[in-house]
Amino acid sequence: MVRETCLTPKDFIYPLFVTFGKGVKKPISSMPGCFQMSVDEIVKEAQNAFKLGIPAIILFGIPEHKDEKGTEAYNPKGVVQKAVKEVKNKVPDLIVITDVCMCEYMSHGHCGVIKNGKILNDPTLELLAKEALSHAKAGADMVAPSDMMDGRVAAIRDLLDANGFDEIPIMSYAAKYASAFYSPFREAAESTPSFGDRRSYQMDPANRREAIREVALDIEEGADIVMVKPALSYMDIISDVKDTFDVPVAAYNVSGEYSMVKAAAKLGWIDEKRVMMEILTSLKRAGADLILTYHAVEAAKELNK
Ligand code: PBG
Repeated sequence: MVRETCLTPKDFIYPLFVTFGKGVKKPISSMPGCFQMSVDEIVKEAQNAFKLGIPAIILFGIPEHKDEKGTEAYNPKGVVQKAVKEVKNKVPDLIVITDVCMCEYMSHGHCGVIKNGKILNDPTLELLAKEALSHAKAGADMVAPSDMMDGRVAAIRDLLDANGFDEIPIMSYAAKYASAFYSPFREAAESTPSFGDRRSYQMDPANRREAIREVALDIEEGADIVMVKPALSYMDIISDVKDTFDVPVAAYNVSGEYSMVKAAAKLGWIDEKRVMMEILTSLKRAGADLILTYHAVEAAKELNK
């Protein structure tokens, strides 16, 4: 009766990795229980999630070809675009969000355009906007830019509006830190930078007040939902953002956080289910309205018991 925080499957956004081919369900070794899946398999997983009461998925693409311009990111026949179409066709009431970033599509694995060894902010904006538009044209319900280039929310909003997609919301990865917790994801998405790191565009984990400035800018540019990422080591940020702004807050329970639970459980050192539920509950308690988590299906099963 007096419990303050009630977790439900409705809180979850389930991340999925789409790849090319057919009948592909390739395990990701650093993320036990997660797979790179072809469109047909994504549809099955989406149906499964929806039946469990999970309202939304977010799609990441692993294209067949990567190049210096990230062409596959805005190819109308790209893996994400195809998956969006198929999922919306087969599970129309499931909300399909797309991750908008260049790192999975660039041969060098960085989130933006590179010239003379530098990641260029402004030339990247055009590509991101094109990518977001192609996702919207494929039928995406919401786009989620994760690149952390300055000005990308405005660039995406403008291009979507100009093309009649003014009702497609933007969930921005607003306070995204340059974190070591992303490494399993980079294996999953095959997006490890071939040189350097992401510290020129992602945030310093030592900074708290800067998160408020980053979030404020994104809201000003038109973000409808703002995200804090990673989640576990950043609960103070989740709480600050929730207290400061009047928009929904999402928290991304990232790959490293997930894989640590899986690894410790495999060694018999923790009670996996209890730890999982405690983590997800505490993210909601900290202020997250939405939680992106690879645990979504397992946690939904627990909650539905
Ligand atoms: C792409 C992106 C990343 C994640 C989500 N979108 C990786 C990165 O910035 O290197 C990480 C997600 C996770 O670790 O689960 N920019």
